[in-house]
Amino acid sequence: MSTPTSVQTDQKTERRKLFIKSYGCQMNAYDATRMADVLAPEGYEETTDVAEADLVVLNTCHIRERAAEKVFSELGKVRVLKEERAARGLDMKIAVAGCVAQAEGAEIFRRQKAVDLVLGPQSYHRLPDMLRNLSNGSRIETEFPAEDKFDHLAAPSREKVASRGLSAFLTIQEGCDKFCTFCVVPYTRGAETSRPIEKILGEARHLVSAGVRELTLLGQNVNAFHGLDEKGNTISLAQLTARMADIPGLLRIRYMTSHPNDMGQDLIDAHAHQPALMPFLHLPVQSGSDRILRDMNRKHTARDYLNLIKRVRRARPDIALSSDFIVGFPGETEEDFQGTLDLIAAVNFSSSYFFKYSMRPGTPGAEMEEQVPEEIKSERLRRLQDLVDGQRHAYNDASIGKVVPILFEKKGRDPGQIAGKSPYLQAVQVQGPDLLIGRVADVLITEALTNSLRGTLVGEQS
Ligand code: SAH
Ligand code: SF4
Ligand code: F3S
Repeated sequence: MSTPTSVQTDQKTERRKLFIKSYGCQMNAYDATRMADVLAPEGYEETTDVAEADLVVLNTCHIRERAAEKVFSELGKVRVLKEERAARGLDMKIAVAGCVAQAEGAEIFRRQKAVDLVLGPQSYHRLPDMLRNLSNGSRIETEFPAEDKFDHLAAPSREKVASRGLSAFLTIQEGCDKFCTFCVVPYTRGAETSRPIEKILGEARHLVSAGVRELTLLGQNVNAFHGLDEKGNTISLAQLTARMADIPGLLRIRYMTSHPNDMGQDLIDAHAHQPALMPFLHLPVQSGSDRILRDMNRKHTARDYLNLIKRVRRARPDIALSSDFIVGFPGETEEDFQGTLDLIAAVNFSSSYFFKYSMRPGTPGAEMEEQVPEEIKSERLRRLQDLVDGQRHAYNDASIGKVVPILFEKKGRDPGQIAGKSPYLQAVQVQGPDLLIGRVADVLITEALTNSLRGTLVGEQS
């Protein structure tokens, strides 16, 4: 057997425990794994017990007020653990990473004195240096550095990749130039950039060779992807997924999150022609009112969106669609909200995410008059939730009696059960042998539960 490509730690490197908690989107979850990767050669092993951690990293999200505030209540709890460890003569360093770090910077030290380090989403490759230099007082990195962080991250060992499961995230594009008037992402993640093709494919090959079978390509506007290949040609997302599908062992490819205005015809066509590309599209629309869409700076109308959905469905009739919605954006009237309900009714989503508008400092939305009262937001959220939940249940119920290829990812909760996902991103459990984990098998769907489907094995796919 060949030796695994794990990073060898120096004999003298002290063994230390790392606790990382991630909030917010999938990209933050991916970043957390990469922070663990960059710290592994420094002797840091991950722990799920925060009390025994030598280093605690909170990888934060700034998207809504509640997400940002959660960090400070969590920091309060971690401070108590830090004090308890100090009483026993043990050290604990606390780092705040991610989008709150980027947005609030040094303010974090003021609000919570126990914090040792603050670093933005583009600086986490500098974590080891920052930890080494702590005694010199350099505690904050929130500039957008000139170098590419991805060039400075250690690859995870094969064992580490395997321990993270069969389905992995891979960031291919980061940042956003769209400046929707409600959103902090362009400020916290910076300008839109696409990673070079060879780097992405190299990372994908490494993950797949270590056992990953499904990749979800991540970007704040992933369908705006335009990476350069080794010859200097610009490659679109559809071209990238076509190249990626050639990696032996990679069974499924997904991507997230897309913007309606970047949904090019070649990507729509890819859904018709690329078997590895899963028939699922998360395409946030936010609102069904043209007036609100305009004020949100989304640069498309409800009709544009519906036409786009028609084209996508023409290419791939069984595609499952999901979206994000905001209720109570400034100036949203009952009529505007009705437009959103109408759009949802017209599309029929398999699932959706919905949020009450949250005023974010520094965004144009925060300056807008006619902020919608909290109780109206709550009431609209409930109505939206009922509609979307109804569509989700109907979608899942309609799966009953169908034979669906399931990629099995892990053991199920009950004995003898294995769990996986349908192409349409539904969780599915069956009674079956563990040896199917990592493979695709046909399943007859027999039952739809609240959050998952049950079925029986029909046969393994070749
Ligand atoms: N890049 C993606 C999503 C970014 S954030 C896109 O373009 O759609 C994920 C979701 O959070 C958004 O789709 C939006 O629905 C929600 N969101 C963003 N800012 C928000 C705010 N200020 N208040 C409430 N929801 C918000
Ligand atoms: Fe935010 Fe809009 Fe960019 Fe999405 S497209 S990240 S909602 S600014
Ligand atoms: Fe949150 Fe930053 Fe993601 S604000 S949603 S963690 S890009």
